Amino acid sequence: MKKSDTFHLNLPSFSVSVRTLFSGYLLVMGIGFLMAGAQILLTHGMADGKLGVSVDDIVYSYHGNRNSSKLEVKLNGSMKDKANALDRMILIKWAREGAKKEQWPKVQKVFEGNCIKCHSAIPGLPTFETYEGSAEVAKTDMGASIDSLTRVSHIHLFGIAFIFIFVGFIFSFTVGLCQQTKAIVISIPFTFLIIDIFSWWITKSYPGFAWFTIIGGFGYICAFGFMWFTSMYQMWVLPYNGKVYDSNEWDISQ
Ligand code: HEC
Repeated sequence: MKKSDTFHLNLPSFSVSVRTLFSGYLLVMGIGFLMAGAQILLTHGMADGKLGVSVDDIVYSYHGNRNSSKLEVKLNGSMKDKANALDRMILIKWAREGAKKEQWPKVQKVFEGNCIKCHSAIPGLPTFETYEGSAEVAKTDMGASIDSLTRVSHIHLFGIAFIFIFVGFIFSFTVGLCQQTKAIVISIPFTFLIIDIFSWWITKSYPGFAWFTIIGGFGYICAFGFMWFTSMYQMWVLPYNGKVYDSNEWDISQ
């Protein structure tokens, strides 16, 4: 047998070094995806005050809660036990009336009596010692700013496309699937990534589109999972089952 006859371009036939290289990448990306999932649960997931990502979370994150303010939401939520009903009402009324500076002295007393022992001491929490700091939290919640959307969008587009070009590259060497099926699976993450990012922008104005964010995210997680498990299986189980895989997966006639 000529040496070239033993070279087959498919996952089960690759040398251990190539399979190790591919698997290392897939493992790190797999962990990365789990971390991203955890982060989404902790940030967006908590936007409506309940654990787990729901349509409300997405609406609050991107569209905002426009007949309310962060101050009001929290005073009816996780900060409810931090002040009595009267004090809470004073703060909520102040926020609803536009957080006017004239009323600051009265409001300041409520903040001082109930809130600043934490909201001036714990880093990362908004401080209620100054008018500016307090007014920021009291203004109408308009959701994500154009600034932050632009920043997060371009990071996601570049970053996620980079993940999927290599995941798709590895997957393109799988055996046993027809070329059309593979092409569709490879295209899914890119399509859903675009849907996902666009949906953030549209949700900012039209909260009804929050569904697309969930569908988009779900779509590329499924495609990622499918490519991940298929590739790993073909690299570490198929080579040891005694069969010969002689296809060239990059050949158009396959
Ligand atoms: C015992 C400490 C403590 C006290 C007292 C306290 N808070 Fe908080 N506050 C926190 C912590 C911790 C968080 C972050 C966790 C969360 O959002 O529930 C927070 C979050 C908030 C947020 C959301 C901040 C953001 O940027 O997401 C608001 C608004 C808020 N508190 C308002 C108040 C008000 C108003 C009072 C007084 C009536 C108050 N808090 C009293 C500890 C405290």
